[in-house]
Amino acid sequence: MSTVLEGVEDRPFIPTEYVVRLARTPWEQAGYYALRREVFCTEQRVFADDDRDAIDEVAIPIIAAYCVAGMPDRIVGAVRIHEAEPGVWRGSRLAVHAGHRKLGRIGAELIRMAVSTAHGLGAMRFLAQVQEQNVLFFRRLYWKSLGAITLHGLPHHDMQADLSRYPAHGQEQTWLLRPQPRNRQVA
Ligand SMILES: CC(C)(COP(=O)(O)OP(=O)(O)OC[C@H]1O[C@@H](n2cnc3c(N)ncnc32)[C@H](O)[C@@H]1OP(=O)(O)O)[C@@H](O)C(=O)NCCC(=O)NCCS
Repeated sequence: MSTVLEGVEDRPFIPTEYVVRLARTPWEQAGYYALRREVFCTEQRVFADDDRDAIDEVAIPIIAAYCVAGMPDRIVGAVRIHEAEPGVWRGSRLAVHAGHRKLGRIGAELIRMAVSTAHGLGAMRFLAQVQEQNVLFFRRLYWKSLGAITLHGLPHHDMQADLSRYPAHGQEQTWLLRPQPRNRQVA
């Protein structure tokens, strides 16, 4: 091994660019469902084999992917939105791949894309059922709890977004550049 490359093989690959967009293509939708299965079935065991339900037939899927050479390479984030009743939208199945959490603002940007997209489509209220361990995360993003509930046998909170913090938009995608973990040294 040359001196120039010393240590390089141990350095983790840290993407510097992520795109957050409405999932339109078969590749994006396959990655979206695969990530949901990985997080909600394999990791959290909330569902046995598949977490799909009837909402998927009407929901708008949103993904985050990291990019290599400017091209989306792997789906590492997911969320879906749907209009549950006129003017009332809901977000669900928010997930970031375990290796890409707290790297920057991938989860927060998925929420921003979800709520601002729904706002642009006429949402007057935006709600989600949030796992208890994530209530603080949502509070920091201008959501309030409407009360504690039990869902899938697990403690959750019904939560509502402050729409004044999520201006309506109709953007297809947004970009996150260089979200970096604070505890890693990157050249
Ligand atoms: C919850 C989840 C989506 C957060 O995604 P993430 O990409 O790690 O979140 P971000 O990096 O955007 O976090 C933004 C900020 O919130 C903080 N944060 C993240 N998760 C948090 C939590 N559960 N509680 C409190 N703060 C949290 C981050 O440290 C970061 O803080 P900073 O702005 O001071 O740096 C992710 O942990 C996840 O997918 N978990 C498993 C599935 C799940 O629980 N889904 C949600 C169901 S309600």
